[in-house]
Amino acid sequence: MKKLVLLLLLPLGLSAQKQVGGSCECCEAIYQRMPATLSWETRISDKDEEGEPMEITGIIYQKDGKTPAPNVILYVYHTDAKGNYSRGTGDACAKRHGKLRGWMQTDHMGRYKFVSIRPASYPNATIPAHIHPTIKEPNKNEYYIDEYRFEGDRFLTKEEIARDENRGGSGLIKLIKNDKGIWIGKRDIILGKNIPNY
Ligand SMILES: [Fe+2]
Repeated sequence: MKKLVLLLLLPLGLSAQKQVGGSCECCEAIYQRMPATLSWETRISDKDEEGEPMEITGIIYQKDGKTPAPNVILYVYHTDAKGNYSRGTGDACAKRHGKLRGWMQTDHMGRYKFVSIRPASYPNATIPAHIHPTIKEPNKNEYYIDEYRFEGDRFLTKEEIARDENRGGSGLIKLIKNDKGIWIGKRDIILGKNIPNY
């Protein structure tokens, strides 16, 4: 009987091992309602979305950390100004991610940019505000990288930062408000960095 269980579990274990990045809950949402054509830059929130405007830019590099990676899809989603993943539509995972979700595909310089509103932390919780990113490279399965989080967040403790896996490099960024009142942030991403099975 034990042998039989082992035999049944083995293929499952093997396929899980091959998955780049390990298991990834709701990562398939990247494909749910993905626009047919993608640009290196996107707007996530409508003009009338409540919240403080935010612009995040960066370059996605190959594993060497130097060579820009073109044609990489970056999917991000985040909470609204009240800290909720609200007004989601579509399949279960897409719905769970809420309305504030968007896609980019890096250009020949590896660039990406998204414009949205600054997310708030979950209501009645002590989890720092964050943006969830998923990466899809050509010829690899999709995988998640560290969340974008913001320096100075009242819930972001040193202990918590020390626990970061730094998948794709650190997701901790500094948001600086420019003279137009827009929060500006920058994060470069290194493909495969601290990603299991890469
Ligand atoms: Fe979240």
